[in-house]
Amino acid sequence: MGVSTVIASGKGGVGKSTIAVGIGRALAAKSRRVLLVDCDAGLRSLDRMMGVEEELVFDISDVINGRCAPIEAIYSCRGTEGLYLLPAPSSVRETVKPGVMKKLMPVLSRYFDHIILDSPAGIGTGFRAAIAAANRALIVCTPDPVCVRSATAVRKLIEEREVSDIGLVINRFNGEFFDETGVFDDLDAVIDETGIKLMGVVPEDFSYAAAFLKGDSAKPDSRGMMAAERIASRLEGTMIPIEMD
Ligand SMILES: Nc1ncnc2c1ncn2[C@@H]1O[C@H](COP(=O)(O)OP(=O)(O)O)[C@@H](O)[C@H]1O
Ligand SMILES: [Mg+2]
Repeated sequence: MGVSTVIASGKGGVGKSTIAVGIGRALAAKSRRVLLVDCDAGLRSLDRMMGVEEELVFDISDVINGRCAPIEAIYSCRGTEGLYLLPAPSSVRETVKPGVMKKLMPVLSRYFDHIILDSPAGIGTGFRAAIAAANRALIVCTPDPVCVRSATAVRKLIEEREVSDIGLVINRFNGEFFDETGVFDDLDAVIDETGIKLMGVVPEDFSYAAAFLKGDSAKPDSRGMMAAERIASRLEGTMIPIEMD
């Protein structure tokens, strides 16, 4: 049985999908079988980021409604062996319900080492569906006060669903902006404010983010991809000091 990890944030545009792809590609590079599940009905993005946009015929709503078998809606991703995508519906009207996810994901987890659920922004049905089947959560946060507040709120909602293994990823870390906002003295203050254990810090890295937007792999030695690789290793229990980030 694979382990299911939801990537959540509350606030939009903080880098959930980018981190889902980075971690997914990093785990697949370690020869793991990885399924990315796009839970953002109506605003899906992973099909494009995984380079399979042109191939899509079925999505998760087709599986749920019996229009296809699960295998027919799972696409092998360009450039990384072992990495697969179950796309979100293109229409917001096809929203997936939490109860359905709870039934479907354990079935799929028999065939994968990792399932990574990419949550939509907000705390609506899509978010609840994404967390319903998760064994653990990574909350993505940029080091600004608005995002830190929504990360804290999301942590509480996830805890209510009895997911206790929750980690924090600080994304787009850029010392200059951090200093400029003047709200937090250092990263420890962000961790204290959210009350979540830190699983990694991803720097602002446009080459890594842009590679994914084009559906390509990021360079393994790019700062963003190296950070994603460390998070992937920590998710599997490897001790890598956070000072390495
Ligand atoms: N570490 C990063 N460095 C630079 N740009 C990033 C980074 N992480 C994300 N981005 C960019 O930020 C935007 C939002 O990221 P995305 O992953 O779509 O966020 P979300 O899924 O939370 O809405 C995208 O344009 C993405 O390329
Ligand atoms: Mg997203």
